Amino acid sequence: MLGPTAHNRRVLSGMRPTGRLHLGHYHGVLKNWTQLQYDYECFFFVADWHALTTEYENKSVIRDNIYEMVVDWLAVGVDPASANIFIQSHVPEHAELHLLLSMMTPLGWLERVPSYKDQQEKLREKDIDTYGFLGYPLLQSADILAYKAGHVPVGEDQVAHVELTREVARRFNFLYGREDDFVDKVEAAIKKMGRKNARLYSELRRQFQEQGDHEALERARALLDEQQNITLADRTRLSGYMSGEGRVILPEPQALLTPMAKMPGLDGQKMSKSYHNTITLRDEPEMVVKKMRTMPTDPARVRRTDPGDPDKCPVWPFHQIYSSSEAHQWVSEGCRAGTIGCLDCKQLVIDGMQEELAPIRERAVEFSANQKLVENIVAEGSEKARCVARKTMEEVRGAMGLIAS
Ligand code: TRP
Ligand code: SF4
Repeated sequence: MLGPTAHNRRVLSGMRPTGRLHLGHYHGVLKNWTQLQYDYECFFFVADWHALTTEYENKSVIRDNIYEMVVDWLAVGVDPASANIFIQSHVPEHAELHLLLSMMTPLGWLERVPSYKDQQEKLREKDIDTYGFLGYPLLQSADILAYKAGHVPVGEDQVAHVELTREVARRFNFLYGREDDFVDKVEAAIKKMGRKNARLYSELRRQFQEQGDHEALERARALLDEQQNITLADRTRLSGYMSGEGRVILPEPQALLTPMAKMPGLDGQKMSKSYHNTITLRDEPEMVVKKMRTMPTDPARVRRTDPGDPDKCPVWPFHQIYSSSEAHQWVSEGCRAGTIGCLDCKQLVIDGMQEELAPIRERAVEFSANQKLVENIVAEGSEKARCVARKTMEEVRGAMGLIAS
């Protein structure tokens, strides 16, 4: 069944600038971004405010990583000609929306987001018993809703945040989506479409409401998108009237998971900076070799002739990403029989990794040397993002009873 945002072609995602990006970011999220950018209208941003929730005591971390992270994005192929790249704090509308949403978000919703207690446990050395940290997922909701994004490509750990965003949007629409004169405004808007389109719209609405015909719903939305004579607010009203939800001001987004969401780390846990088990996108070739060669293998294999079991070896998951199915067979048989050496086995992974990293490294050097270009890309992206977010804020303020200045 098509959801309420199935027609929405806008994608938004962000990353915190807290350190060098690694292969986990690349396989878990970035590769997905580079594929989405040609099919969707994409907004990718540096979540510097989110980084501050945990790094507020050492500002250099964020300052040093903002542009470096953008360089990494550009190096992996995020294309500023297709996607808008920007910095969260350069679009203050995110903060305003966060504030407004905080008025209507029950505390309990934030307290029971799984990452809240998890992170507080994990990051004990940091004092994150703060107002800002509790609000982290709500700020994320504001990021997403400011653009009315339909899709949010993220790693698995972020799904709960997208889920919260959906609840917040639903509550917002429920509280503020019902104008007193809604039906009058809808009727006026229908008239503005001209007689032929008005009749078609009404017919499609009847088909959807009486027969649950989702194709009719989609057709009606396409029809609304084509209308030149109606305002954005009217379009939203007519879309809401169509599906019977009142007026959907903030549409509910969906998480878009990358199929290969989990990148293994050098120790068998998931790859993550906090586990110190990463290969970064800018590690030099020698570093890649060193990290791979020293990574643990099946402990049963002390000598080359000792039989092992790939399922007990953290190198094995890397083969799934970096080597061919023939290689899998060679490894699997040779490991179990004790006829191949672990270094030979690892070499296949190293080769695949170097091949993947070489062009990224090269492009990173180029962008790094051209700071001005990177700054311009971000300035342009931030400006475009702001245009969209400003429009949303006008609607949101009005819906919540604030008066335009
Ligand atoms: N919380 C996300 C992370 O840690 C980063 C983020 C902030 C984000 N705002 C977002 C991701 C909005 C997607 C959409 O990875
Ligand atoms: Fe791991 Fe490969 Fe060594 Fe087997 S041969 S233990 S799979 S590194």
